[in-house]
Amino acid sequence: FGCCINTMANSITLDWSENCSATIHLYGATVTSWINNGKEQLFLSSKSKIDGSKAIRGGIPLVFPNFGPWEHGPQHGFARISWWKIIEQPTKMSNGDVTTVLQLTDDDKTRNMWNHQFLLTYKVTLGENNLTTKLEVTNTGSEQFDFTVLLHTYFRVSDINSCKVSGFLGCNYSDKVEGTDNVSETTKEIVVDRNIDRVYRLAGQPDGHLISTPETKLMLTKINLPDTVLWNPWTEKAAAMSDFDDLGYLNMVCVEPGYVSQRKILCAGETLTCSQNITVL
Ligand code: BG6
Repeated sequence: FGCCINTMANSITLDWSENCSATIHLYGATVTSWINNGKEQLFLSSKSKIDGSKAIRGGIPLVFPNFGPWEHGPQHGFARISWWKIIEQPTKMSNGDVTTVLQLTDDDKTRNMWNHQFLLTYKVTLGENNLTTKLEVTNTGSEQFDFTVLLHTYFRVSDINSCKVSGFLGCNYSDKVEGTDNVSETTKEIVVDRNIDRVYRLAGQPDGHLISTPETKLMLTKINLPDTVLWNPWTEKAAAMSDFDDLGYLNMVCVEPGYVSQRKILCAGETLTCSQNITVL
């Protein structure tokens, strides 16, 4: 099976087999699709822009160098609204996995917002039953900088009412909907049944998050991403977003590994390597 770069669509397709593939859009290095055994695992809004005029609504947008509103630039930073370069063509490795590597570096536009020199290297690897996205953040300048980073993964679920997400028990979280902080999670398996927007500290460690529906069980594990954001806009907030399907909230949940509750400091020349792995059980 061939992997290909679709220059017209500005995307890369990794093919593991006839019914197992992943697509990465060069705008934001956003993974827009992951099909495992013929079934799409990621939610992508049918109303999403994919022409580079707005961040892609769905898949796995990459949030850097700031999670949330930001005094220097757009919400969630500029990585998801930048055009990335392919630095390693899609290739099939000896174990059968297929992989590609993209890069983003500072330019006049990014330095105007955030005056730092950096290199982001993003490796996406597709296996028979798993997807791994690994990010390296390198400080290529001569002064330290600080940032937050997050892999904003939108999972596709057949019915949110029958979906359970675990890996938060005992973790402290801040709740953006309730306006509370330092709440301790007492639920082992969370059922998302309302607008949820929480930043859990040290969540999913060491066992990861299980995202389960009656049909599919996905295990999300992560490295060097201590926090996890759990988000679903629910009815009103979904309707208020021009690029979100009005009923799309019923078919998605965002479980987003990140380094967000504290800012990561990188000294000149240093690199942070972080990743998520999602496995279909
Ligand atoms: C989540 C945030 O990660 O992203 C939410 O916790 C936010 O507060 C959501 O609403 C979507 O953000 P955006 O910028 O893609 O609309």
